[in-house]
Amino acid sequence: MWSKAVTTGEQLSISGITAKNLATDFGTPTFFIDEADFRERALAWNQALKDAFGANAGTVYYAAKAFICTEVARWIQDCGIGIDVCTGGELAVALAGEIDPAKIELHGNNKSVTEIQRAVEVGVGLIVLDSLYEIERVSVAAAKNGKSQKVLLRLTPGVEAHTHESIATAHEDVKFGFSIASGAAWDAIAAVRTHANLELRGFHAHIGSQIFGFESFELSAQRLIALLAKYRDAFNCELPELDLGGGYGIAYLPGEENIIPANAMAALATAVKKNCAAHNLQVPKISIEPGRAIVGPTMFTLYEVGTVKDVTLENGSHRRYISIDGGMSDNIRPALYGAEYTTVLANRTSPAKKVASRLVGKHCETGDIVIREIDLPADIVPGDLLAVPATGAYGRSMASNYNHVPRPPVVSIKDGIGRVIVRRETEVDLLGLDI
Ligand code: LLP
Repeated sequence: MWSKAVTTGEQLSISGITAKNLATDFGTPTFFIDEADFRERALAWNQALKDAFGANAGTVYYAAKAFICTEVARWIQDCGIGIDVCTGGELAVALAGEIDPAKIELHGNNKSVTEIQRAVEVGVGLIVLDSLYEIERVSVAAAKNGKSQKVLLRLTPGVEAHTHESIATAHEDVKFGFSIASGAAWDAIAAVRTHANLELRGFHAHIGSQIFGFESFELSAQRLIALLAKYRDAFNCELPELDLGGGYGIAYLPGEENIIPANAMAALATAVKKNCAAHNLQVPKISIEPGRAIVGPTMFTLYEVGTVKDVTLENGSHRRYISIDGGMSDNIRPALYGAEYTTVLANRTSPAKKVASRLVGKHCETGDIVIREIDLPADIVPGDLLAVPATGAYGRSMASNYNHVPRPPVVSIKDGIGRVIVRRETEVDLLGLDI
C-alpha cells in the first residue's frame, strides 16, 4: 500500500520528511512519488520477465496512462524499459523525456492520422493495430515516410477478467481489438499481409486492469498461442512476438497484497511454454505492459482537513463527514469504479476512539467521496493532514479541473529531498484557455 520510503510513527514521513514539513513546503493536496520505489518496481518487472523467459524475454512497456510526466519518462529510459503510449499527448511526453523511440509502442483504438503519422515519423518501435481502417492508415504513413513499420494486432481473446466492468477489456462486447472467436482477427491478419510495408511481428492482448489470480492471463496466452499456430500452419512461418498486456493488481487496503512480479511471470512462462510445446511452436518473445503495478504503490496523496460535520442517519446512528481540500478532481476512481482506499492521520498520532466516518472532497457533488466508510479518530479537526496511499495509478493521470479546482502537483522524494516534477496548477492556468 505504502511506498518503501514511507514510515508511520509519531507522524507519517517519507524518506525522513514529516507530513507537516511536506505540507509546509509543497502545500496540499499533493501527490508524493517515491522515486527509488518507482525505479525498483520497474526494474523488478523487467528482471522477472527476464528470469521467467530468458532469451525469449521481450520488453516491459510501462503503461504511460497510469501516470506519466517528463521526469518519469526519464526514469523509464534510465531503467532501460519501454513505454506504451496511447495518444499523441503521451507520445509527446515520452519523446520529451528522451525515451528511445524504438522502445515506444503506440496503442489506441482510434489513433488519428496525425498521431499515426508522427509515430511513424519519429520511428516508434511498434504500432498496435486496432481496426481495419488503421491497417490502411499506418500503411499510408509508412509509405509517406519511405519506411516499413513493425506492427502487432490487438486481439480480443474472449476472456472475462475478474475486475470492474469498466476496466475489463478482453471479453467479446468491447471496442478494443479484433475478436479471435468471430474470425475478425483472421481477417485482420489477411489485411495486414496485403501491405508490404507493414511487418507483422505478432499479437497483443490486454485483458483488463487490477486483476488478481493468473488464470485469465494464462487463458489469454493460450488463445493467442493457438492463433500463432494457426498462422504458422497457414503461412508456413512463425510470428516472433506476443505482448500480453498489463493489468496486474495492487493493494489499496490494509491486508491486501501487490502481485509479486516473479510469481506473475513464472505463471505466465509456464503457461506460454506449455502451450507453445503443445503446438510445436518456438516460444516467441514475450512482452508485458504493467502500469498500475509499477506506479500505483509509489505515490500517496496528502490532503488537509477543512471541515468536520456529523450527520444523523435514518436509523439514528451518526456518520462523520470529513472534508478534505481535494476529492473527485484528483481521485475519480471511487466515483467511477467504486474503488476503495484507506487513509491515515498523517501529522500526529491520536489516542481518540475511532468513529464511523466518510472522507469527502470539496466538489459540488454528493458522489465526491474518496472513502465511503472508514473508522477514523474522533478528534480529527480542520488543519489535520490525511494521507491516502496507492494513488499513483490513474490518480493524477485522470485528474480534472471540475469546479475549476487546479490539479495538484507531483513531488518526487528521493534521499530525503523533495522536488516538484509536475507543478501545481494556478488560476492563471485555469483562465489561460479562455478567450
Ligand atoms: N496495456 C493496455 C493496452 C491497456 O489498455 C492498459 C490499461 C494497460 C496496459 C495497463 O494496465 P495496468 O497494468 O495499469 O492495469 N482507469 C482505470 C484503469 C484503466 C486501464 C486502461 N488500460 C482505473 O483507474 O482503474
